[in-house]
Amino acid sequence: MTGKTNRSQISRYKKIISISNDLASTLDLDILLKRIVEAAVELTNAEAASILLYDERLERLYFQTASQYDDPLLRGLDVPVEGSIAGWIVKNRQPIIIHDAKKDDRLYQQIGKSLGLLTKSLLGVPLIAKDKVSGVLEAINKRQGRFSSEDQESLMTLGAQAAVAIENSRLFQQFDLISEFVHELRTPLASLRTATHLLTHPEISDEKREQLARNIQRETMRLAEMSSDFLSVARLESGRSQFQLDEFDLRELLNECFQLIIDQAEESGLFCNVEIPADLPRFTGDRDKFKQAVLNLLSNAIKYTPAGGKVLLEAEAGPEEISIAIHDTGIGIPAKYLDRLFSKFFRAPGSERMAQGTGLGLSIVKRIIEGHGGRIEVESEVGVGTSFTIHLTVK
Ligand SMILES: Nc1ncnc2c1ncn2[C@@H]1O[C@H](COP(=O)(O)OP(=O)(O)OP(=O)(O)O)[C@@H](O)[C@H]1O
Ligand SMILES: [Mg+2]
Repeated sequence: MTGKTNRSQISRYKKIISISNDLASTLDLDILLKRIVEAAVELTNAEAASILLYDERLERLYFQTASQYDDPLLRGLDVPVEGSIAGWIVKNRQPIIIHDAKKDDRLYQQIGKSLGLLTKSLLGVPLIAKDKVSGVLEAINKRQGRFSSEDQESLMTLGAQAAVAIENSRLFQQFDLISEFVHELRTPLASLRTATHLLTHPEISDEKREQLARNIQRETMRLAEMSSDFLSVARLESGRSQFQLDEFDLRELLNECFQLIIDQAEESGLFCNVEIPADLPRFTGDRDKFKQAVLNLLSNAIKYTPAGGKVLLEAEAGPEEISIAIHDTGIGIPAKYLDRLFSKFFRAPGSERMAQGTGLGLSIVKRIIEGHGGRIEVESEVGVGTSFTIHLTVK
């Protein structure tokens, strides 16, 4: 071994050690995957790197993250297990080096094309933790020369660390969500238990009986809503939720959302308005998920605005951006809570006096909007009102 390789190997090991410390310190799956691909690029001197995750139960392989070329819309996109290189790596649990991608027809170029990246050479390793393949890490296009066996060794070592970190983050997320879910179930379940217990008493009046039946109906509806919100969050967080992309008419969608809430809003004594320009451009995204996001925001505006107040749904289109805003004249949110608003389960103190809720709505909204490459902003003043604005880039 020459002095030079020795030194460069030592510096590689040093790098890997510092990366694995880094990986062990985060449980946020998105941040973790980003760090892994960045590390892969650096370690192997590649142009890009990407991670595909593998769902053993469904035998599904799907794209998750790529360095610099990241496009949130591609997340969750399926890659065939049969006949793709990543699929080969998963099935054989072995690394692979491809020096000339042109000559290999197993290469699945679909995602590369969408990212504007042509694969010329590739080094791929399986992500294996506890004997389970959780995905594939690929370094794409060696900058100088060819991918070497040292590159492969480094990427295998990184892959092993990465697999453990991914597994931990998933378990933590699941545990976190499940324990919160169970906690949230307690209140509606306790109401149901009380109501059903009271119903078995023969001496209660018809009026009371009817009231109890209504309580049961309300609590079961609440449970159903909560379950579907939990499922949405779990799917969005695991990266398993795939956006179904379609071009659709945003104006039509916004009007549809407005129609869905108007009766309930007017029943609560609110004045509602919608202002959408006729020339709002068409938009490409997941229409159902978008609808879910807008409805969550409208439902908040209604829940947190006392009778007599106003709710306005407004859209605007600029040359590069579409913005959709939901304004209300409700209770507002104290400034000190604004940065926690989009976290799971967060509810501003006092909200429970206004309306029931789990605190999941806004975290779902944020994931959906950011998954479409957009962002969401909030402005609020206590006792005056709140505005949520979605900014979308026009492509
Ligand atoms: N328009 C608003 N006006 C005032 N406060 C709001 C508004 N929207 C959201 N909030 C505050 O943000 C918190 C989080 O909102 P989010 O939609 O995530 O949860 P939720 O409405 O409490 O429950 P869920 O949507 O899960 O049923 C709310 O509990 C409330 O404190
Ligand atoms: Mg809500």
